[in-house]
Amino acid sequence: MLEVKGLMVFYENALAVNDLSLKVQAGQVMGVIGSNSAGKTTLMNTLSGLILDQRPDSTVLENLAIAGHLRSRVEVAQTTELCFDLFPNLTRWRSRKARFLSGGEQQMLAIGMALVVRPRLLLLDEPLLGLSPAMQEKVVEAIRSVREKTGVTIVIAEQFARPILPMLDFGYVIENGMLTLTGSGRDLMENPEVKSAYFGL
Ligand SMILES: Nc1ncnc2c1ncn2[C@@H]1O[C@H](COP(=O)(O)OP(=O)(O)OP(=O)(O)O)[C@@H](O)[C@H]1O
Ligand SMILES: [Mg+2]
Repeated sequence: MLEVKGLMVFYENALAVNDLSLKVQAGQVMGVIGSNSAGKTTLMNTLSGLILDQRPDSTVLENLAIAGHLRSRVEVAQTTELCFDLFPNLTRWRSRKARFLSGGEQQMLAIGMALVVRPRLLLLDEPLLGLSPAMQEKVVEAIRSVREKTGVTIVIAEQFARPILPMLDFGYVIENGMLTLTGSGRDLMENPEVKSAYFGL
């Protein structure tokens, strides 16, 4: 689905991603785990080149329609229904402005907007940032059901390794723009270096 070899990204004279190679198989959930300034966002932006922003003063329904502007009305209606099936909270707030949603609901709207675009690859940059542990679990559950219901290939960049690793088919750990560990989510969960760096064990 996607393969990157020897990627280097520079900002002026600073190196943010250093000789990074990775692969994402179709239908898989792949993770990029790294602490602050590891290079996650730089990598995700390089992979996507496209940024879909929510409009705080538009409602949930309006944001979904904006995301689907290149799709037919029927397609937008179908994926909007799918989005409301996946995220019952959003159904309640369909006419509420995005700025009045909770952090978790905004993340769900962001995932919903990405689904309306009908991507082959869904890139999520720190979907758990700023959420309580309970809300993090809800977003993780939502990502799992997106995968089950759509089969879309997903790449998640996260510093919260613990809730994310169990759902990864494959993960890459990066530090200072470089790969330090790779393996299945399960292998990484068992890895002593991951445990000490991310689980505080
Ligand atoms: N626009 C920019 N100009 C110059 N340097 C940048 C820019 N954006 C990021 N960097 C630098 O590149 C490195 C990687 O940053 P990046 O935002 O990719 O990290 P990150 O893993 O997403 O971190 P965080 O978890 O804090 O979001 C950091 O050292 C950062 O200071
Ligand atoms: Mg980032």
